[in-house]
Amino acid sequence: MNPTANAPALDCLYRKNALDVLRAMPDQSVDLFFTDPPYSSGGLHSATRAQAPGQKYIRGDIKMAYPEFAHDNKDQRSWTFWCMSWLGEAYRVAKDGAHLVCFIDWRQLPSLTDAIQGAGFIWRSIAVWDKAAGGARPRLGGFSQQAEFMVWATKGSVPTGHKVHLPGVFSERLPRPKRHMTEKPMGLARQVVSLVPPGSVVCDPFAGSGTFLVAAKEAGHRWIGCELEASYHEAANERLATTVALAA
Ligand SMILES: C[S@@+](CC[C@H](N)C(=O)[O-])C[C@H]1O[C@@H](n2cnc3c(N)ncnc32)[C@H](O)[C@@H]1O
Repeated sequence: MNPTANAPALDCLYRKNALDVLRAMPDQSVDLFFTDPPYSSGGLHSATRAQAPGQKYIRGDIKMAYPEFAHDNKDQRSWTFWCMSWLGEAYRVAKDGAHLVCFIDWRQLPSLTDAIQGAGFIWRSIAVWDKAAGGARPRLGGFSQQAEFMVWATKGSVPTGHKVHLPGVFSERLPRPKRHMTEKPMGLARQVVSLVPPGSVVCDPFAGSGTFLVAAKEAGHRWIGCELEASYHEAANERLATTVALAA
């Protein structure tokens, strides 16, 4: 399928299911997918994973209340199957040489790398978001969960024309209060969007509070994203409206 009539416009955040928007996008039209899907994680067993994100992802000692988000309660097989669905569309929509950078936690890392490769992308490596000292609780008898991960993949060869060198570890604490329950850091996002030259098209199908799209707009890229939850969609649109394109 190569939908071009009625293709979703760029520089727009859709309050729609990501799969529907991706299906309507034309072939070979995105340079960078930079995203942070619902992990359906946060527990060792399926009953715990079916809990609301606020119960799974927010520490009991933190009193801040965040709006909930849905679609985070799949079991392992159905989550992997769902990832294959959106990643398959993302692969079609990606240009040759496009990058995919996808956030994930330790539990879902193996399933995500399977789905990314199953969809056709070439898995290149993993970068680490180190939440830095104080960013995670110490864990009695074991390792603190102080990191999340970015899986990096490309559609075909890694483009070498754009000279960029990124670190493999990003140490950054999130300022509080957060805008989204599972927000990611802005400094990290700014570095990741530099993977592609200004004027590229960056897509975040699971935009949350819009961190990655704000970084993309700032860097002078075209951008497109989706966010289903009304409160986060509104918050992201407010951030995007006040973001100035630095390199345009
Ligand atoms: C992990 S959060 C993204 C947080 C974001 N990186 C930030 O910094 O704010 C994932 C988001 O995807 C949204 N979401 C879940 N399923 C979706 C779907 N099928 N289509 C579009 N958005 C979806 C959720 O509402 C949630 O806000």
